[in-house]
Amino acid sequence: NGLLTIAIDGPSGAGKSTIAKAVAERLCIDYIDTGAMYRAIGYKMKKNGISADESVKLAAMLENTDIDFVAGDIILDGNIVNDKIRTPDISKRASVCSALPSVREKLVAIQRNMGRKKSVIMDGRDIGSNVFPDAEFKFFLTASAEERAERRHRELVEKGQSVSFEEVLEDIKQRDYRDMTRRLNPLRKAEDALEIDTTGLSIEDVTDKIIKEIENNG
Ligand code: C5P
Repeated sequence: NGLLTIAIDGPSGAGKSTIAKAVAERLCIDYIDTGAMYRAIGYKMKKNGISADESVKLAAMLENTDIDFVAGDIILDGNIVNDKIRTPDISKRASVCSALPSVREKLVAIQRNMGRKKSVIMDGRDIGSNVFPDAEFKFFLTASAEERAERRHRELVEKGQSVSFEEVLEDIKQRDYRDMTRRLNPLRKAEDALEIDTTGLSIEDVTDKIIKEIENNG
C-alpha cells in the first residue's frame, strides 16, 4: 500500500521519543507517541476519580474517550494535554493503567487505525511485537537503568520539577518491572527488531544509525 511503518520500542528513558521525533522529521512522516496515549488515560482516570479495579466505570469512560495527535500536540477529548501528562504521578498511573486489558484494547485499536492511513514512526513498548508485527522497520533501544534515570532526571530538573536522582531511578526500575511482567503485551524485543544499546551514544548518533538502516534497506 506504499505506507511505511517504523516501530521503536524499549524501556522507559531509553531516548525513544526524542529519537523517533528526529527520525520523523528527517523522513517527513508522522510521529506517534503511544506512551502519551497511556498517560492521557491515566490522567483522565485520575480526573474522573476512577481506580484500576472499577472496570464498569472504566469501560464507560473509555467508550467516551477520544485521543488524537495534531501537529505534535496530544489531544484528549478536544483539549491539548501535553504538559498535564508529564508528571511523576501521571507516569506511575500510565504504567499501572497500561496493564489493564480494556485500556490496551482501546489504545492498540486507535494506534493500528493511525498506521493504516499514513506512514508513521511509532514508539512504545509493544509496537514491533504486537501493534505492528509486520512493520517494515523495527528498532529496540536500550540503555542501563542508571543512564536512563540520569537522562530523565536531567529532563525533569530542566522543567523545574524537584525530584532526586534516587527517586527517578527507583521509578524507572518499578516501571521496567511492571512493563516486563504484565501478562498482556509485555515489553519485549520483537525477534526481527534491530537492538541498539544507546548507553554513551548521543541522540544524533542513534538517529543517524536508524536513518542509515532505513536508507540502506528501504
Ligand atoms: O513512554 P512513556 O514512559 O511515556 O509511557 C508511559 C507508560 O505507558 C509506560 O510506563 C508503559 O507502561 C506504558 N506503555 C505501554 N505500551 C506502550 C507505550 C507505553 O504499556 N506501547
